[in-house]
Amino acid sequence: MNINETIKAIRPIRSFVLRQGRLTKGQEHALTTFWPIYGIDYHPNAPISFDPNQKITLEIGFGMGASFIEMARQSPETHFLGIEVHRPGVGACLMAAEAAKLTNVNVMCHDAVEVLENMIPDNSLDKVQIFFPDPWHKARHNKRRIIQPEFVALIYKKLKSGGVLHLATDWQNYAEHMLAVLTQAAGFKNLSNRGDYVPRPVDRSVTKFEKRGQNLGHGVWDLQFMKQSS
Ligand SMILES: C[S@@+](CC[C@H](N)C(=O)[O-])C[C@H]1O[C@@H](n2cnc3c(N)ncnc32)[C@H](O)[C@@H]1O
Repeated sequence: MNINETIKAIRPIRSFVLRQGRLTKGQEHALTTFWPIYGIDYHPNAPISFDPNQKITLEIGFGMGASFIEMARQSPETHFLGIEVHRPGVGACLMAAEAAKLTNVNVMCHDAVEVLENMIPDNSLDKVQIFFPDPWHKARHNKRRIIQPEFVALIYKKLKSGGVLHLATDWQNYAEHMLAVLTQAAGFKNLSNRGDYVPRPVDRSVTKFEKRGQNLGHGVWDLQFMKQSS
């Protein structure tokens, strides 16, 4: 094995590529000014302690954050934690959180897999939502899709009993992959009474990537799986 092959072999497969998109002045200002209010820094040895009396929703990959903030605005009784690796998106989300004067939102800028592994306590989440994750549709890239058996097993550990994993995608092939992975995952019950997809829940705000898919004539598939008592 040469050095490049060795590096490739030990580097974990990630579900994202960090795009160095430029920050707007507003996003840069928000990252400096509002991070101390809403931001949580990644630290592998500092688990988050959630209020046990509050419902907790985790959204992974909120993009620019508009739909995430809208859902948080509509459910003030629930606490929302959003994780996104794309800094301009985090900046935009902070601007929106501040504009809406939300007090039920926290934001992290880090790989959600590591956050789940190291900072989210087991049995702590009421809901995990992942909307329009990168489809990685070339066959040789399919392994980078975030929805994989190990990842779903990790989510299972972090959900409370009765907690729900909600996924949506506009790629039929990814929807079928999600359905296959979740149907085979131990301890989850499909909330679709037909054993496949659920009707679009009314409380799910339309996301940027959903609109993009609609403009391309794509369909949308929602999946909801509940953690059964262990
Ligand atoms: C296709 S975009 C969808 C954004 C948004 N949910 C929407 O529907 O408009 C997927 C997002 O997930 C983020 N992402 C992918 N893997 C991630 C990970 N492991 N941790 C945090 N964010 C991730 C990407 O940076 C990207 O912004």
